[in-house]
Amino acid sequence: MTDKTTPPSQNSASSIWGGRFAGGPSQLMLDINASISYDKALFRQDIAGSRAHATMLQAAGILTADDLAAITTGLAQIETEIADGIFTFSEALEDIHMNVEARLAELIGDPARRLHTARSRNDQVATDIRLWLRDAIDGLDDQLRALQSALLTQADAHAETVMPGYTHLQTAQPITFGFHLMAYVQMMGRDRSRLADCRKRMNESPLGAAALAGTSHPIDRHQTATLLGFDRPMENAMDAVSARDFAVECMAAAAICATHLSRLAEEIVLWSTDRFTFISLSDAFTTGSSIMPQKRNPDAAELIRAKPGRIIGDLVSLLTVLKGLPLAYGKDMQEDKEPVFDAEASLAVCLAAMTGMIDDMSVNQQAMRAALASGHPAATDLADYLVSALKMPFRDAHHITGRIVSLADTHHCALDELPLSAMQEIEPRLDEAVQTVLSIDHCVAARNSFGGTAPDEVRARIAAARKAFLEG
Ligand code: ARG
Repeated sequence: MTDKTTPPSQNSASSIWGGRFAGGPSQLMLDINASISYDKALFRQDIAGSRAHATMLQAAGILTADDLAAITTGLAQIETEIADGIFTFSEALEDIHMNVEARLAELIGDPARRLHTARSRNDQVATDIRLWLRDAIDGLDDQLRALQSALLTQADAHAETVMPGYTHLQTAQPITFGFHLMAYVQMMGRDRSRLADCRKRMNESPLGAAALAGTSHPIDRHQTATLLGFDRPMENAMDAVSARDFAVECMAAAAICATHLSRLAEEIVLWSTDRFTFISLSDAFTTGSSIMPQKRNPDAAELIRAKPGRIIGDLVSLLTVLKGLPLAYGKDMQEDKEPVFDAEASLAVCLAAMTGMIDDMSVNQQAMRAALASGHPAATDLADYLVSALKMPFRDAHHITGRIVSLADTHHCALDELPLSAMQEIEPRLDEAVQTVLSIDHCVAARNSFGGTAPDEVRARIAAARKAFLEG
């Protein structure tokens, strides 16, 4: 049995913060404290932050030009070592910040020990996560745009493909498949704008806030902000190290987006069942069964349907960590990273798989049209016709149509198969003209109000969406 109170290879105080410590941390302390296994993902941001900080320190006269040159060269080497997978990470050095700094000291000696002037790991980590999330948002935005583009291509190809529109998953009114897909294009557009919104608020620099109260050194926080592409330094040093609402916001946007994707995923699952057969997915996005040779399972769609479980969990996890946490920094906040990384990775894989499935699916137009033969999807059109042709109040028209629907059910036929004479038993003023409004293509073409399902209107909305979402 290993003695859990003293780490096997670490029995002296930390070289980074151990000045007043005689002994080293226990193995258990290292186990609970170390974040390097996951925060090494921040290495590029951490190094960029150090580079900017050093540049500013030199301009402020705190570092010499030689110090800066050594730091810059050393940091570049460390970045390459980590990217090449040859960097030796140490758990005893806790996190990415101390791992980088310790290696820099190994490489260049004294100048490395001056780099931590006027900064703290508290402002460092806050800076790193903001930089990381800013890139992550840009990546997600690109992915969302690609998904919109795939949806727009299918919507354009199917602007006239009729299918049942559902409410309560019961046949409601005829729509086009292109129209249905365009609903998702709009949802993804709002997802993008939510992410863009939090990117804007997030793009302020915590660097130079130091531990929590600022510093007595003559630093220039505006300079580091500019060097790192931030819009400005954060106004309050305590807020700068304590705030994680930017990450919460971003995860909330991710959770909403994942929820949208799960709705589309569920529709793909339904549409590809042998009850619907509206679409089929190729071998690329389905799996077989180990026992049932006939099976083609939409596993990718099912996993996208499931992912909000963990993404919403990630959001709730960070909110729970922050709730009631006193200012300024608390080690609790180290628990922010795994949920943030997990939410981003989960959403990214969902977006990629969804885009692949949308590109890949083939649409069975006959099955979609055939599904309109049941459920009386033209009933609203009949009621609307009674209103416009016979000037009937809509409530009366609704009632008369209900009786005609019930008669069609008795005859086991669709509304457009019901003989005119049978309809006239209920409403004697009806004539042959009623037959035209009952045709599915007519029903769809007639709904040409702004944002409606008529093919011409869908095409106009596709053109507008291409402009709004894909250009510029
Ligand atoms: N690894 C830490 C984190 O992620 C860095 C900040 C540590 N700050 C401190 N005062 N111990 O939050």
